[in-house]
Amino acid sequence: MSSEELHKRRTSAVARGVSSVISSYVDTAAGGGLTDVDGREWIDFASGIAVTSVGNAAPRVVAAVQAQVERFTHTCFMVTPYESYVAVCERLAELTPGDFDKRAALFNSGAEAVENAVKIARHATGRTAVVVFDHAYHGRTNLTMAMTAKSMPYKSGFGPFAPEVYRVPMSYPLRDGGLSGPEAAARAIDMIEKQVGAANVAAVLIEPIQGEGGFVVPARGFLPAIAGWARSAGAVFVADEIQTGFCRTGNWFASEHEGVVPDLVTVAKGMAGGLPLAGVVGRAEMMDAVHPGGLGGTYGGNPIACAASLAAVETMRELDLNTAARAIEAQFLPALSTFAERDPGIGDIRGRGAMIAIELTRPVPSGLIVPEPDPGRTGQVARACHAAGLLVLTCGTYGNVLRFLPPLVISEAEVDRGLEILETALLDTI
Ligand SMILES: Cc1ncc(COP(=O)(O)O)c(C=O)c1O
Repeated sequence: MSSEELHKRRTSAVARGVSSVISSYVDTAAGGGLTDVDGREWIDFASGIAVTSVGNAAPRVVAAVQAQVERFTHTCFMVTPYESYVAVCERLAELTPGDFDKRAALFNSGAEAVENAVKIARHATGRTAVVVFDHAYHGRTNLTMAMTAKSMPYKSGFGPFAPEVYRVPMSYPLRDGGLSGPEAAARAIDMIEKQVGAANVAAVLIEPIQGEGGFVVPARGFLPAIAGWARSAGAVFVADEIQTGFCRTGNWFASEHEGVVPDLVTVAKGMAGGLPLAGVVGRAEMMDAVHPGGLGGTYGGNPIACAASLAAVETMRELDLNTAARAIEAQFLPALSTFAERDPGIGDIRGRGAMIAIELTRPVPSGLIVPEPDPGRTGQVARACHAAGLLVLTCGTYGNVLRFLPPLVISEAEVDRGLEILETALLDTI
């Protein structure tokens, strides 16, 4: 059945609120590419939104899933436990920053992990306030919608939202007048102290590099200052590494780029090679503050997803995907800088590892320091890339960021071809 026919079926079966970036339907996917049902090949700069870091249908993941499906598919860890759940929690303790004693708990989705990090922080501190940042994205459940910044399409019309969530300014070098990391942190901390009160803060929760909010990389020094303040205020510092974790930025976790050691880390996406799995990992005394039975869920840490995760981590180690992510960065950044020499609409190039973005802006009128976003052109460039067989995504509070998230196993030749398509799309839309 063709994509066109499938699209017709979809329109009368699938709710309109669930939209797709393109209307081609996938048939198979492997490594750095996808093939659709019409036989067309795509270069993948999306990884299913930073999920298939080890590649789609990665051989170890496929074998582990097949073996597990034949042994048992589900028991519910809260009823009849199994080894792979324990092994994933051990892996999370090994891989996340910090040498202290850790515990972990597994869930189904990133949003669920974030919700549980908040539950744990509230129990551990006896406090209620949760501090989040401008441009943040933490999910689509009620509490995580409250924590997410952008109204359309994530929140509009879905309120009322959970209380006790407070938003403070992020460090966003292109748009905050070039505040240094410590200056931007001081601004945020002042707002927390004045408007929330340090003694009320259960958790400060931040993406070390923001995802949906625009791949915003805070100025150096911002994250350590915020983490240090949280510790001194007796609040739990939570790094939401759902998009940045598991080699995506060239380290196991993006917090490591600045030596930040979070109290708790939320993980999902890349951790299980495409199977739905998420977790919260961190300081044993905080995690264990919750009474037995206070955390869990029917499917959290499903055995098939756990088997996939163990195989994905083995693949990351075996193929040294941190080095691969850094090599992808080294291929992207010089190429994007060359494009920017001819394209005044490229207002910023940023990101780390295989999490790279360009922000498209209009030429800055004299006197204005902050460039005006260009979401119209961003959409045009994305559509031109799609028409030429390159899967790219947009993001950002202003809808003007093109983001690149290739699988970490993508070949150099595929990246080159993707960059060629991008260059043409940019040149055609200047
Ligand atoms: C940083 C971050 N947190 C949370 C989430 C929510 O994860 P999920 O879509 O699995 O609920 C996402 C998803 O994009 C994310 O990027």
